Amino acid sequence: MDKTWWKEAVVYQVYPRSFMDSDGDGIGDLKGILVKLDYLQTLGVDVIWLSPIYQSPNDDNGYDVSDYQSIMKEFGTMEDFDRLLSAIHERGMKIMMDLVINHTSDEHPWFMASRSSVDDPKRDYYIWRPGKDGKEPNNWESVFKGSAWKYDEVTDEYYLHLFSKKQPDLNWENPDLREEIYSMMKWWLDKGIDGFRMDVINFLSKDQRYLDGVVADGKQYGDGSPYFMNGPRIHEFLQEINQRVLSHYDLITVGEMPGVNPEEALLYTGKDRNELHMVFQFEHMDLGAGPEGKWNNSKWELSDLKRILSKWQYGLEDGGWNSLYWNNHDQPRVVSRFGDDGAYRVESAKMLAACLHMLKGTPYIYQGEEMGMTNIKFESLEDYRDIETLNSHEDLVNNYGWSEERMMAAIHARSRDNARTPVQWNDSRNAGFTTGTPWIGVNANYPEINAVKAYNDQESIFQFYKKLIELRKQHDVIVYGHYDLLCPDDEQIFAYTRTLGEEKLLVLCNFKGYDGQFNLPEELDPQSATLLISNYKQDMDKGISSEPLRAFECRVYHLK
Ligand code: NOJ
Repeated sequence: MDKTWWKEAVVYQVYPRSFMDSDGDGIGDLKGILVKLDYLQTLGVDVIWLSPIYQSPNDDNGYDVSDYQSIMKEFGTMEDFDRLLSAIHERGMKIMMDLVINHTSDEHPWFMASRSSVDDPKRDYYIWRPGKDGKEPNNWESVFKGSAWKYDEVTDEYYLHLFSKKQPDLNWENPDLREEIYSMMKWWLDKGIDGFRMDVINFLSKDQRYLDGVVADGKQYGDGSPYFMNGPRIHEFLQEINQRVLSHYDLITVGEMPGVNPEEALLYTGKDRNELHMVFQFEHMDLGAGPEGKWNNSKWELSDLKRILSKWQYGLEDGGWNSLYWNNHDQPRVVSRFGDDGAYRVESAKMLAACLHMLKGTPYIYQGEEMGMTNIKFESLEDYRDIETLNSHEDLVNNYGWSEERMMAAIHARSRDNARTPVQWNDSRNAGFTTGTPWIGVNANYPEINAVKAYNDQESIFQFYKKLIELRKQHDVIVYGHYDLLCPDDEQIFAYTRTLGEEKLLVLCNFKGYDGQFNLPEELDPQSATLLISNYKQDMDKGISSEPLRAFECRVYHLK
């Protein structure tokens, strides 16, 4: 058993824009985070992950960085950051910064220099290619729709942008660029931060042939992902980052990696690989995706979710480590997606929490998840802010003939803005998020769902999360126990065990809004069990109850 603090930790993600506004401009800020640190400390989290706070024109809410070493004006100043950093450390917590080094903003001085002339020393910091027959250099589609190339008149060439056209991709083939990134990373680490969450980090190495991708039936663009995801030099680059920077500090690192499988993840996180500690994989988030990606929002089965999560649990058992998440700033709210945000909101949010936190890996909580915040349903497209949502709407409605109604239903289910409405702090105006006009609408359910209410209610989702975190600190089996799935084909109950020496956990989760029977495997002795946590009132000293699980009920037993 290889014990480390970041395996035992629970991470809480703050999306600063929507967390807490201290100055009434309608945008969350660093002073706002400072005010809420006691709340996070009470919850018990160990690490705070901050989505990008660097200077940015905000085409993609800070994931388009124009200066890595200064703070976005809307969020405050470097002094505010230093104060926040000390306050986090004083409370015994750590801070993990988002690191966006696959691309910058087109307003970054590097890009402005790069675009100015083919002879500029920074030309090669980005990926420039001449057109082919008067068209883009290849057929790749941008993640945010349209071509991944943008023509620039100044030098009569195209630059690559896998995301928006205001997010040009950096050229990692260039050693000078890499050096600049390493010194920037060291600058932050020397300030005292405790780790990095690395944005789409498996996109860094592009196949230098820039071949066309396959064009699926009825599609306009090709899929370039085989040429930029997990590309030819990716492990070399990550090992260099590790050797030059990361290995000199005691850190937590997680790489966001779309399109990664457990075999590859082992290469990224394996103990002797000297790359990263864990990855954010996407397979469970991709449930229900179709030809139009997540917007298809097709039906999924519980057995699929169990199969995927189990594949990752078993796949990283030897030498790797999982990150565990249901939510982040790019995903809809889990209680609306995998639970029931109506009649069983509280029960299902707690069940999902237990189901995730009892798996093997480091759990991540996204702001508002701990109070069971739900998806937003703006009636008008005008109320949406997210570039991916707006571009996809335009693309699917104009180019693929989706009706307005179909697209709005998909947006209600899957838009990233579901996660980005302001945190609901209390039942005062704007949920206590701002005294001004919030940059994006507040969910109207804030009088019912808010932090003050959750804090004061002993049976709340917040208290349940707090208890889960406490349990993690008390029982090694929760952190280090080996995972085993029970009843893989059951479409109602997700049941698994965790085993560490003589100790065992039995985790039972009902994913449906009606009763479900679970049959105990013979080798488990019901009498030897104590109940660790449940989302319904239970008889605490009865051993394992053979009563059916009620709607969205979860029970976690400890067996010795
Ligand atoms: C992943 C981030 O999580 C997302 O919010 C962003 O739009 C893209 N990477 C591009 O940086």
